[in-house]
Amino acid sequence: MDPLRAVKGMNDVLPHESAQWQRVEGSFRRTAALYGFREVRTPFLEPTPLFVRAVGEGTDIVEKEMYSFRHHDDELTLRPEGTAGAVRAYVEHKVSNAEPVSRWYYMGPMFRAERPQRGRYRQFSQAGGEIFGDPGPGCDAEMIDMLVSFFKSIGVPDLEVLVNSIGSAETRPKFRDALKAFFEPKKSALSEDSQRRLDTNPLRILDSKDPRDQEASKGAPTLQEFLSDEDKKHFADLRKLLDALGVEHRVDEKLVRGLDYYTRTIFEIKGAKAKLGAGDTLCGGGRYDGMVADLGGPKVPAIGFGAGLDRLLIAAEPQGAEAVVDAFVAPLGENALGPALALARELRARGIATEADTRGGSLKSQLRRANAQGARLVLILGEGEIGRNVVTLKDLAGHAQEEVPRDHAAAIVADRLAASGAVRKEEAP
Ligand code: HAM
Repeated sequence: MDPLRAVKGMNDVLPHESAQWQRVEGSFRRTAALYGFREVRTPFLEPTPLFVRAVGEGTDIVEKEMYSFRHHDDELTLRPEGTAGAVRAYVEHKVSNAEPVSRWYYMGPMFRAERPQRGRYRQFSQAGGEIFGDPGPGCDAEMIDMLVSFFKSIGVPDLEVLVNSIGSAETRPKFRDALKAFFEPKKSALSEDSQRRLDTNPLRILDSKDPRDQEASKGAPTLQEFLSDEDKKHFADLRKLLDALGVEHRVDEKLVRGLDYYTRTIFEIKGAKAKLGAGDTLCGGGRYDGMVADLGGPKVPAIGFGAGLDRLLIAAEPQGAEAVVDAFVAPLGENALGPALALARELRARGIATEADTRGGSLKSQLRRANAQGARLVLILGEGEIGRNVVTLKDLAGHAQEEVPRDHAAAIVADRLAASGAVRKEEAP
C-alpha cells in the first residue's frame, strides 16, 4: 500500500469537481425538503452486530464487504449503508412517541470493500431517505415519484423504474423454503457463491449474474406464487398510484435486492446506461416493515431508498464550469492593496463572491486572472482612482468601462449583478 496515494476505491473530489457535487446534493436537499423530509445525521461508525442483524448474515455486505475492526472491547463497522443506523437512531430516541410519521433524509459516505470499477467504489456517497410510520402504498408511490423527479431535475437520461413485491415477513420464509427445495437437487450445477447462498440466502441465487445460476434458475418458483392477498393488493395499489402519477415502471419478478430486511415493495431505478454500463443502478430501496421492531422498537412500518451519488454524478447532465467569484478587485501599485482589501470586504458583506488580487502585478495579468475566475465585474483601484475617490468598473462580458464613486461602488456592483441575473453561489440551483 503506497502511503502517498489514496486508498484503492476511495476518491478525492477536487475543487474543480466539487461544484457538480454541490449541484446534485443541493438538488437532492431541495427535492427532499419539498416532500417534507428532514435531515438526520448518524455516526459513520456503528456497532458491528447492528449491521449483522439488520442487513442480514447471508448478504454480500455482511459476509465480505464490511470494514470492521475491534477497538478495545468494541466491535465497530464503518457504515456500509444508512438504513440500519437511521433505524437505530429512530428506536434509540423513541421518535415514534413524538410523531406518528417521520420522513428522514441523509447524505454522506458509505463504505463497502467491493471490487472497484466505474461507478463502484469502496467509499461512496449515498443520498437516502426513510419514511417511518406509514404502511403505504401511497408513500411507496410518492417516494418513487420523488426519485424520478430528482433524477430528471439533474438531467439523468433513459430512466427505468423496476418494481417488485417481495412479500411480507410471513410469506418470505415459505418462498425461501420452496427455493431451497428447488435448488437442492441441482446444487452441484450452481456457482460456488450460490452453493453457499443455498443455506444462507437462496433468494440471491435468482439475481446472480453467473450463467450457471441463471441456467439452474429456469423454472424456479416465483415469489408471486407465495404472495398473500394483502401483499398482492398492496402491490396492485402501488402500481395504480404510479400509473395515476404518470410514472412509467416495469415489474421485474427477478428483482430481490441484496439486503435481507425488505418486505413487500422493492424497487430500483436505473439510468444513463450509455455512461454507466452494467453498474447503472442509480438507486434501490423498499419497504422494511419488520426492522424497527426487530431492533427493539415498536411495530412501526417503514420504507426507504439509497441513491448512489457517485453514479448520479456520472449520469447527470454536466453543467458548464461555474464561476468562482462574481467580482474581482484589481489593485494597481503598492498603496492600493489596503483599499482594495477593504472594498472586497464591503462587496462580500453584500453577499457578492469577490476576489482581490493580493499578488498585484500588471492590469493585464490581473484581468486574465479575473477572467479565469469567472468574474463578471472588475473593480480597478489605482493611485489615480484613490486620489479622486472613485473606482474604475469594468464589465468583462460587455467590455464597457466607467468610473463610479468609491462610496457607491459596492451598491452599484450589487445592482448590476442582480440585473444581469447573477445568483449567489450558495443559492444557485
Ligand atoms: P443498496 O442497493 O445497497 O441499498 O445501495 C443503494 C445505492 O447505492 C445503489 O443503487 C448504488 O447506486 C449505490 N451504491 C451501492 N454500493 C455502491 C458502491 N460500492 N459504489 C458506488 N455506489 C454504490 C441500500 O444501501 C439501502 N440502505 C437502501 C434503502 C434505504 N432501502 C431502504 N432504505
